[in-house]
Amino acid sequence: MARLVQGTLSRREILEKCLALGAVVLASPSPAGAMMAAFEEREKQVRKPTPPNELGPFYKKRAPETALLRAPGDAGMPLSVSGQVFDTRGETLSNAVVEVWQTDHFGHYDLDGYRYRGKLVANNSGRYKFDSIMPGHYPDRVCQHIHYLVTAPGHKPLITQLYFASDPVFEGDPDHNFNRDPLIHSRDLVRPVILAGDPKEIHAAVQFELCLERL
Ligand SMILES: [Fe+2]
Repeated sequence: MARLVQGTLSRREILEKCLALGAVVLASPSPAGAMMAAFEEREKQVRKPTPPNELGPFYKKRAPETALLRAPGDAGMPLSVSGQVFDTRGETLSNAVVEVWQTDHFGHYDLDGYRYRGKLVANNSGRYKFDSIMPGHYPDRVCQHIHYLVTAPGHKPLITQLYFASDPVFEGDPDHNFNRDPLIHSRDLVRPVILAGDPKEIHAAVQFELCLERL
């Protein structure tokens, strides 16, 4: 009876054996070792990287470290956004820095100061959260959105944008209508909106997980 060898060889050894016996064929000018290492690395991916999206012209450096972007009396629908920062292996990135910026309810960016701009540091579980208001529409863009710049040591910076499934532009069907905004290349960036509270204290909540690629 053949001895069961599964578990006695490393993944790399199995790949090298496959290569030697022709079970895996290389069709690349790159060195075999580099291709095997890349194969092994890619197999460990359990999460898709978050799709990138344009930086836009309104990013400002040195945003304050705050998770409270709205002030008492601000117009607009209260919104809380939360999520977790991962890498493509599914490991949480506890040291990620998440910068967000958006318009106010009326579709205006604060270009003089730092209203609706914040820098968040992910906690030990890679989680981040901030409180804001639902951003407004503005003439140069079709959809409501929040901009993100996410950085973590050893990972590629992620520049992206969060969109809302409740946006009237989608007419209730973001699956079919997400590309009405020519800047939305991926449905994944349009997130469901949860309504909570009661009619007098209604607020919206959105989850947006972030996944960075390793350098
Ligand atoms: Fe924008």
